[in-house]
Amino acid sequence: MKKKLLSVLLCATMVAALFAGCGSKEEEAAAEPAAEEAEEPAKEAEEPAEETAEAATEGCPGVDGLNIGICIYKFDDNFMTLYRTELQKYLEAGGATVTVMDGKNDQAEQTNQIQNFITQGVDVLIINLVQSSAAEQVTDQCAAANIPVVFINREPEAAEEERWASEGIAATYVGADARQSGTYQGEIVLATENKGDFNGDGKVSYVMVMGDPENIDAQYRTEFSIKALTDAGVEVEKLDEQRGDWDQAKGQEIVANALTANGDAVEVVFCNNDAMALGALQAIEAAGRTVGEDIMLLGVDALVEALENVQSGKMTGTVFNDHIGQSHAAAEIAGKMAAGEAVDVQNMVDYIKVTNENAADILALLQ
Ligand code: BGC
Repeated sequence: MKKKLLSVLLCATMVAALFAGCGSKEEEAAAEPAAEEAEEPAKEAEEPAEETAEAATEGCPGVDGLNIGICIYKFDDNFMTLYRTELQKYLEAGGATVTVMDGKNDQAEQTNQIQNFITQGVDVLIINLVQSSAAEQVTDQCAAANIPVVFINREPEAAEEERWASEGIAATYVGADARQSGTYQGEIVLATENKGDFNGDGKVSYVMVMGDPENIDAQYRTEFSIKALTDAGVEVEKLDEQRGDWDQAKGQEIVANALTANGDAVEVVFCNNDAMALGALQAIEAAGRTVGEDIMLLGVDALVEALENVQSGKMTGTVFNDHIGQSHAAAEIAGKMAAGEAVDVQNMVDYIKVTNENAADILALLQ
C-alpha cells in the first residue's frame, strides 16, 4: 500500500503533473489520501493527483510510431543511467523507436551525434547536453531542420529559454529546480537536534563537494543548502569547497583531504549528488568519524545505495531527484511536440526530501 501511495504522491508532486505516467489505474485509485498523508510535498498536491489518475498508462502516450533520438552527456553517470533506462523503457512501451547515444562527456562528439540524428530525419530529439552553453547552437541546428528538441537535466540559460518563447522555436526544457534540492538539504540539517553544530561553538562548519560548476544544479545546490541554514539564523563556516564533477572517486578524495586538513572541525559534509556522498562516506569512515554522532552527510538523487545508507544512519539524508517523473514528462512532451503542439519552455518536476523516516518508502518505490 505504501508503495502505491507513494507512487501517487510522486505524481502529485510533479509540477507538470498533467503529464501522467506513474502507476497503473488501480494504483491511482487511492490518490486523495496520499496527498494528505504525504509529509513532504506538495504544494497543490491534490489537484494534480486527480488529473494524473485519469491519464495513467503503461507506456508513454502519443509516441507510437515516432523515431526518437536521445543524446546523453555520458553513460558513465549513476543518475543519468537510471534516467535514460526509464526514458527508453517508457518510450518503447509507447511504441516509439528509440536510439540512445553516449556523448562521452565531449560536446564536439555530442554535436556530431545530433547532426547525424538530424541527417537521419528523426521526429524529435531529447538531449542531455554535455555543456549547457551549447544550447543555442544545438537549438538553431534543430530548428533549421524543423526537428523539435527537448533538453533534459542540464538547463540552458534563462535568456536562451526566453528566446525559444519569443521566436516561437520548438524547444523546451524538462528538469527539476535545483534550488529546491539545496534547500531540502539545509532543512534536513535544521531538523536535527543540534542543527549541525556538534561541537557547540555556535556555528556549523562544513565542507561542500560540488558537481560540475558549469551545471546549474551544482550552482544552486551549493548556494541554497547553505542559504537554508543562514535564512534560519544559523551561523556557518565554510572549511572547504571543491568540484567533484558528480564523481564518487573525486568525492572520496576531496573529503579525505578536507578531513585531514580540518580534523574534527568538520561537522557537515554537503555533496551535490549521492555518487559523491558515497565517496565522502568512505572517507568519513576511513577517518574514524561516525555520521549522526560527530558529523552529518547529505547527498541528492536517492540512489539505492544512498537510500540504504540513510535508512541505516550512515547518511543523514538525501533528496529524491525524480528520474521517473522527469523522464516520463520529457517523453510525453516530446510526443506532443512531434505532433506539432506548443508546450511551455520550462517544465519542472518536484524533488522529495529523504530522511530515515521515509527512506524505506522511496526504496520500495524504486524496486
Ligand atoms: C544529478 C547528478 C548527475 C547530474 C548530471 C544531476 O541532476 O543530481 O547526479 O550527475 O545531474 O548532469
